[in-house]
Amino acid sequence: MSVAPASAPVDPGRQRVRERGSWFATRVGRGAVLAPMAGFSDAPFRRLARHFGAAWAVSEMVSAHGLARAIQDERGLQISAPYEGEPLVVVQLFAADPDLAARAVVRLERAYQPDAFDLNLGCPVKKVINRGCGSELLRDPEHAAAVLGAMVRAASVPVSAKLRLGVDADVSVEVAQALVGAGASALAVHGRTAAQRYQGRADWGAIARVAAAVDVPVLGSGDVKDAAGYRQARAAGVGVMIARAAVGRPWLFADVLGGEPPAAGEIVTVMWRHARDHAAWYRGERPLRSLRGHLAAYAGELSVACGRPSWSDALRAALVRVDSLADLRDAVRSLSGVDPERVHARLGDEWQRLAEAGDTRAREATG
Ligand SMILES: Cc1cc2nc3c(=O)[nH]c(=O)nc-3n(C[C@H](O)[C@H](O)[C@H](O)COP(=O)(O)O)c2cc1C
Repeated sequence: MSVAPASAPVDPGRQRVRERGSWFATRVGRGAVLAPMAGFSDAPFRRLARHFGAAWAVSEMVSAHGLARAIQDERGLQISAPYEGEPLVVVQLFAADPDLAARAVVRLERAYQPDAFDLNLGCPVKKVINRGCGSELLRDPEHAAAVLGAMVRAASVPVSAKLRLGVDADVSVEVAQALVGAGASALAVHGRTAAQRYQGRADWGAIARVAAAVDVPVLGSGDVKDAAGYRQARAAGVGVMIARAAVGRPWLFADVLGGEPPAAGEIVTVMWRHARDHAAWYRGERPLRSLRGHLAAYAGELSVACGRPSWSDALRAALVRVDSLADLRDAVRSLSGVDPERVHARLGDEWQRLAEAGDTRAREATG
């Protein structure tokens, strides 16, 4: 990076953007980051990930257009709302219109003060790309830069972007440079094209090429499942985002920092804690309905930890039907003889121990 001579005029806008960039730079090496996952990265799961040491957590994507036009207001605000006292809130928006993206940023800053915003340039789902959002932005780097630039100008906090490599070919360096030119303070790169969806392996070589081509922190995303995968990515000089592997395994954020894998009782404790937080967050008739994806994943982990992998299908089948905490307690008790509420009460200290490494990390990152 070249250093400007002392006499050179400093562009105050660019200077401000650079200062904001330090938010990511100071945190990127402090553990893995919980990736945005629609339907999964909600407030209760972000809390759990942070508890176990996620460096920060990104919200599920929110429609900037819906928010700016005050359609789906409640929904947009709820999806991205922080839990009480949530540190390091990064809200991801999907948008195609610079003006609406800027208005959404202003609305969200008024509703609560996120620490950063993120622009989605990766979602390949039809209802998102049909509106020109998500991975469609990869077709036109200049337009993508205009959307991101509008967010940067509207926000008082840093703005990052999360992209795939391209729509059907790798154009990530070109897009990344355009985004950084427009003021992106950090980038996350999922090492697949939109056409690939989740097929094949994520291309970490392509992620490294992006990191070498820009002067902001770059995080890689794709197929990191364990501490070895985390270390390999860090050795290549990029940060790490984890998505699917953390579902049903939020202690993965502690594992990558050197934690021990939890025993069966601890898994029950984590699952119960998650379910309680979830039920409290989504008060309503069937508060655990939207937790079923997580519960199915816990079922696999739990049966392996019990040394009974053959339980997995039956446990999963029972857990994906639960609607309430009482249903969950009954399902676990009838299959395993374990009462999650009692295990949770007994293992309260274990929970503390499990979470300690994460808490320490979280405090360091906040400081
Ligand atoms: C269910 C699901 C929902 C996702 N939702 C989002 C999203 O809202 N925004 C986004 O940028 N990426 C989203 N992703 C992509 C992930 O953030 C991540 O880049 C991808 O899953 C690869 O990482 P992994 O191998 O660790 O899962 C989603 C992925 C999954 C599986």
